[in-house]
Amino acid sequence: MSDFNEQYNKLIDEVRVLVKKHARGRPPSISVSEETAALLTALGTALSGTTHESASASVADVQDKREQKIEVEVRTLEEENNEMTTPVDISSLTTLDEIAQVITACTRCPLHETRNKAVPGEGSPQAPLVFVGEAPGASEDAKGRPFVGRSGNLLTDIIEKGMKLPRADVFICNVVKCRPPENRVPSPDEVRICEPYLLRQLEILKPQVICALGAVAAQTLLKTTDPIFKLRGLWHDYHGIPCRVTYHPAYLLRNPVDKKKAWEDIQEIMKFMQDQGTVFPSS
Ligand code: URA
Ligand code: SF4
Repeated sequence: MSDFNEQYNKLIDEVRVLVKKHARGRPPSISVSEETAALLTALGTALSGTTHESASASVADVQDKREQKIEVEVRTLEEENNEMTTPVDISSLTTLDEIAQVITACTRCPLHETRNKAVPGEGSPQAPLVFVGEAPGASEDAKGRPFVGRSGNLLTDIIEKGMKLPRADVFICNVVKCRPPENRVPSPDEVRICEPYLLRQLEILKPQVICALGAVAAQTLLKTTDPIFKLRGLWHDYHGIPCRVTYHPAYLLRNPVDKKKAWEDIQEIMKFMQDQGTVFPSS
């Protein structure tokens, strides 16, 4: 390799490290100058030869002549790195405890860098009903338990006062297991990287019903971009399991008028379980 090429490649490696550092914990795009965008794009094409997405940074979303927002595939790089540090085949995990242990040590996506505690989920392994939320908030991140803050209190009331069930009889978890900084909505990449844990949890639990709390949970489970008003009020299918969608408790705290509709959703679930003769662990 010529001296020039060697130095060029070294420089590029350094840029990639900087880009990765810059992008940690943020959405998967960064802003760079037009010249840098062009350089990275050209380089991506030159280096890619393979199908390496990270090398083929694609230019998108031109906001300003000087500042182009490019989709540098930093997440792909993160993933590659992290697959090395978390070399676990999630589909081979066989118990909820095993999954929880792996989640607790997980570094597959950048959310691990800003979390205090990962929040795998909790409840009965025999739960016939599973609630799926979006992602942990501050209280959950501090405790390592799902739905233990203000939204959690409302969800607990829905389960215990509304459905007359002990909270420990259901299973409660989230799509994404670590708190996104400032409680932002998890990015599509974060959801994609974390989703195999949820999938495996539900495969092991095999509940009779799933209740998706809010748009992120519903859209992730049902692989749709339909808004919540279209998804509520119907039975959906998640890998053969009936799934009902309702408002997220955090939304209900901000919009208490919709509590009535949420209660209708919950009553549909209760009716279904009654028809099925569902038995709860502690009954
Ligand atoms: N909101 C969620 O979606 N999940 C939690 O665990 C807490 C708040
Ligand atoms: Fe791992 Fe999910 Fe936490 Fe990301 S959010 S670090 S994928 S457990």
